[in-house]
Amino acid sequence: MYNRLIIGNRKHHLTKTNSTNSYTKAFIKNNLVAEGTVIIADEQTQGRGQYGNDWLSAKGENLTFSIVLFPKYLKATEQFLLSQAISLGTVHYLKTKTNLPISIKWPNDILIDTKKVCGILIENSLHSTHISESIVGIGLNVNQTEFSSEVKKATSLKITTAENYLLPKELELLLNYLDKFYLQLMQGRHHLLRKQYLQNLFRLNEKHFFMLNEEKIEGTIKDVSLSGQLEILIDHKLQRFNNKEIEFVY
Ligand code: BTN
Repeated sequence: MYNRLIIGNRKHHLTKTNSTNSYTKAFIKNNLVAEGTVIIADEQTQGRGQYGNDWLSAKGENLTFSIVLFPKYLKATEQFLLSQAISLGTVHYLKTKTNLPISIKWPNDILIDTKKVCGILIENSLHSTHISESIVGIGLNVNQTEFSSEVKKATSLKITTAENYLLPKELELLLNYLDKFYLQLMQGRHHLLRKQYLQNLFRLNEKHFFMLNEEKIEGTIKDVSLSGQLEILIDHKLQRFNNKEIEFVY
């Protein structure tokens, strides 16, 4: 048995909320909350995704939760390391469920094969040059088998393995892995985290098409910079991209 040190040692269960990230933000403003506290909801009425998108998740079928972290030891410029640690924890949990390829589509979508099974929304607050608090929101598709047509390329554990899962049990298993990788971050093992992130990166060192300024271009992902920019070799020139500047064609 794995004894968790930080993540998931305290949990709050909500039947319904707008968004666990929004609820958590307000909750930590008004309460003293221990680092690693998890706030989970059976249903979100306004689940939020990256770039202001909605996160749609059927009531009671998936894991939708937020984790409170205080990574005060991380500089604002090192924010991406937290994203790497959380992505890696999720990948390693998923690897115990299926032999299909699990990968991280930059920056932090988790794929089974080429379909998204998990989304991560990290909201950091800064105090001067460092992070003061982070709300790590995770939406993992577990038992849902039907997705609206708006959600392109989604999958779930049940679609992948034809098994039905007990959500509380899966939450515990996932939290164990998240804790394990968060400890690597706390211990300052930045190089190791970056290395493992690259090892699990979708389409690393493969030539593929991307959309850049509405143009289809061909390039090869070579690396991810310290600040989290994607580095792609295009026409023998290494170019760096921020979120949303480049889109995968797949
Ligand atoms: C993405 O766009 O891929 C990120 C999705 C993040 C969804 C989770 S579900 C729990 C938490 N609460 C939210 O409102 N969003 C995150």
